[in-house]
Amino acid sequence: MSEHNPDAPAWLQLPSDVNALYASAWPTSAHRDAQGVLRFAGVSATELVDTYDTPLYLLDDAEFQHQALMYRDAFDGYTVYYASKALLNRTVVRWVAKAGLGLDVCSGNELRLALEAEFDPARITLHGNNKSLDELVLACESGVGRIVVDCMDELLRIEKLISDGLSAPKLLLRVKTGVQAHTHEYIATAHEDQKFGFSLSSGAALEALQWARSKGLPLVGIHSHIGSQILKVSGFITAARRLLELLAEYRDTTGEQLPVLCLGGGFGIVYTPADTPLPPHDLAAALRAVLPNDCARLGLELPQLAIEPGRAIVGPCGVALYRVGVVKQVELESGGSRTYVAVDGGMSDNPRPALYGADYSCALANRASDAEPVLARVVGKHCESGDILVRDCYLPADVRPDDIIAIAAVGAYCRSLSSNYNMALRPPLVALRTGTARLIVRRETFADLMATDVG
Ligand SMILES: Cc1ncc(COP(=O)(O)O)c(C=O)c1O
Repeated sequence: MSEHNPDAPAWLQLPSDVNALYASAWPTSAHRDAQGVLRFAGVSATELVDTYDTPLYLLDDAEFQHQALMYRDAFDGYTVYYASKALLNRTVVRWVAKAGLGLDVCSGNELRLALEAEFDPARITLHGNNKSLDELVLACESGVGRIVVDCMDELLRIEKLISDGLSAPKLLLRVKTGVQAHTHEYIATAHEDQKFGFSLSSGAALEALQWARSKGLPLVGIHSHIGSQILKVSGFITAARRLLELLAEYRDTTGEQLPVLCLGGGFGIVYTPADTPLPPHDLAAALRAVLPNDCARLGLELPQLAIEPGRAIVGPCGVALYRVGVVKQVELESGGSRTYVAVDGGMSDNPRPALYGADYSCALANRASDAEPVLARVVGKHCESGDILVRDCYLPADVRPDDIIAIAAVGAYCRSLSSNYNMALRPPLVALRTGTARLIVRRETFADLMATDVG
């Protein structure tokens, strides 16, 4: 029997069965069949790689609907927008519409894609810290429901567009509430020293609201997004309370209450046993326990509330499949060893470990194994030692070239952050539902890459 490797992080348990899946990280439909092969939504991993090759990204349609409906039901009375930056393609837009959610986009091209997929523009919110004039014009002309305004330059641009005769969507002002979200620095977005929003503490947010009102802009509310992959509710509550205070100050100085309050996204998911997010019903209940009382204390009507989950909806429905090319033993200074398993993708299709030190759970997908678990690291094929996909995991000691490795919870911020580093071709996306697989985004080809090289 192997022993727990001292080089493993504290959260990584030595598995009693190396073939078992850490259930909370995988789509509900994931299981190992009688032949030892992983199946997702009833489709076998080996059949999928035979048909579509590797690397391959799978999206479990039923899991997407399940997560979306869980948020919609838990946050009953809120408007729930899916944050499309997490993953966007025409199929996902249709899934969002089917689940009855709104859509939040943060660039002109995300907006164009949503419109091409015939999403109702009135249910779209446009975000972005540096929206170009063209993007603002597109939003106005296509009839998007809301724009979240990030800065004074943008307010001035919108004022000009309205004076030129365009009809502007309803406006929310993005406010930095000063909340320190407990997450990686690069995905914390409400502290003072970062680029998003109007500062609450300096008074800039209140001044901007008053200015917008004085110009007759179609202002309806305020917005905050404190960060991403947040596992505790306290940051959301602190932010919400500070925003209510701002609504009260605005009411006190203008005699009017703004009706809308959006609390953004950022709800965390399970990647490994280290992640213990609150279920959406508990999150919503914690907010319900505070917001009505605060409103009563401040003499405010309860605003129309909104949230914008991205990762929490699409993250859990994604699985990546890779083929192993190389297996290498590396001796560690501690005296132990680590098995490096190099696969045919890497930081080009999933840069999150390199960007944020993100962790994942993985498993051998094409067979079960009787071998003992060994401490392993799944790495890619790119020219960086930071090209890591799974920093710490246990895999069977007999893992070998041509095996298939599955990585869980890759639906969010993998495809959307992917690159062509080393001229890598972005992998295809395949949607799965009740035993069937459907290609929704094809693999890039070398010709795709050369098409933009006009020199
Ligand atoms: C304004 C805004 N809303 C929502 C989100 C979605 O966050 P998450 O995917 O963590 O829910 C983001 C992510 O960056 C964001 O910037």
